[in-house]
Amino acid sequence: MNNLAHLAIIMDGNGRWAKLQGKPRTHGHQQGINALRNITIWCAKEHIAYLTLYAFSTENWSRPKTEVEFLMRMLKKYLVQERPTYLEHKIRFKAIGNLKKFSPTLQKTILNLEQETATHTALTQVLALNYGGRDEIARACGRILERGLKGDLQELIGAHLDTAGLPDVDLLVRTGGEMRLSNFLLWQSSYAELFFSPVLWPDFTPEHLAQIIASFNQRQRKFGKV
Ligand code: FPP
Repeated sequence: MNNLAHLAIIMDGNGRWAKLQGKPRTHGHQQGINALRNITIWCAKEHIAYLTLYAFSTENWSRPKTEVEFLMRMLKKYLVQERPTYLEHKIRFKAIGNLKKFSPTLQKTILNLEQETATHTALTQVLALNYGGRDEIARACGRILERGLKGDLQELIGAHLDTAGLPDVDLLVRTGGEMRLSNFLLWQSSYAELFFSPVLWPDFTPEHLAQIIASFNQRQRKFGKV
């Protein structure tokens, strides 16, 4: 799948999925982990180079305190529990977002997994954590100003984003039926093809994704040309 180097996914619908089962929202996030694992392994097998997933946004801190605390605990557990998946499938792990807001132990766990999987070549899985597109662009500009760098501003910004070195997003998928970007990869998705699936994230399977990719492959991408 050479024309699909970078797939980005907004994993939406965990809360509604749980509600439909008569369970608390947190149950939906737990089930979301299974979907995340299945999709990641499938992408590695399909030789997709980069998969970026929106796990926690800069806006998610304003959810109820109990849910935020649950998500933090879940993230920490995820990084430990899923380590064998990254090792077995030779998946490289990378985090983007403003990680400084996380506890020092969580930051260390993130860094450890990044370092441990740095030479893996099957798939780079990028987790967006405390991520916001505007925040990322602002932090990049801040670094450019701080260093007094001069030159082509678009190139400079691209090179100072958290995603520096990654290709632009080719395909952006949002599950859960809403049709918005929610501050995700704003710079990188300038020419991405967008797909919105009504399926709630915990129910989203590799078969759903394969169908979306098949229709992505039918689309003619013009990048502003005729
Ligand atoms: C959106 O569903 C989902 C999130 C804000 C969290 C996404 C997290 C996962 C899929 C699990 C993996 C996470 C980690 C930390 C590894 P929602 O809660 O907005 O659902 P709703 O729109 O139905 O309310």
